Amino acid sequence: MAPVNDKGLTRLKLGVLISGRGSNLQALIDAAADPSFPAEIALVLSNKADAYGLERAAKAGIATTVVSHRDYPGDKPGFEAAMDARLRDAGVELVCLAGFMRLLSPWFVNQWHDRMINIHPSLLPSFKGLDTHQRALDAGVRFHGCTVHYVRAEMDAGPIIVQAAVPVLPGDDDHALAGRVLEQEHRIYPLAVRLVAEGRTRVDGDRVVIDGPVPALPALVNPPA
Ligand code: GAR
Repeated sequence: MAPVNDKGLTRLKLGVLISGRGSNLQALIDAAADPSFPAEIALVLSNKADAYGLERAAKAGIATTVVSHRDYPGDKPGFEAAMDARLRDAGVELVCLAGFMRLLSPWFVNQWHDRMINIHPSLLPSFKGLDTHQRALDAGVRFHGCTVHYVRAEMDAGPIIVQAAVPVLPGDDDHALAGRVLEQEHRIYPLAVRLVAEGRTRVDGDRVVIDGPVPALPALVNPPA
């Protein structure tokens, strides 16, 4: 049975997978602290025992578990089966990758098809992989940003739910740009979870259709005229 809050709202049960700092996890914890938010975190799973995000979860009274890839040398199927079992035992309905830095196999991705989302620090499909901010600076793009998407077996690919764009400004280094993007990550991850939990996202091939009104946005120009 899905949990219901005092207003009779059914809350989707999230499993958040982390490997480190957990600032996106914190954004989800903060969002879910509002009883009207349509999801709650059932489990935080880390592949690293010293991930700071585990402390954030414990502080918020959320169940945590560690499945270390180091306990499964040369045995990715065993590592992933253990993660899968913990998520199912916790009744997780949607897996949220939040700085989880292990590549997932097609088997695991298929277990959670259209029930697993990821946040990535670039405007996908540009800059998949690591060092996205420095690569954006090196490429001279005027806009950079972040993406929440459904997970597919190919790395950093899958139907896009929400993106936020930020300008690249004169004098930016990767630290400054990363900070500007991270601020937006913390906005769009809860927004994407809300849309999914409210049942407003429908995957149509490679695209996500959002049900309900979505206001049009003006074009952004950088540098401004
Ligand atoms: C975030 O910037 C997230 O987008 C990125 O790792 C960081 C985790 O920070 N994820 C990836 O690069 C995955 N490809 P956090 O632990 O503070 O949320």
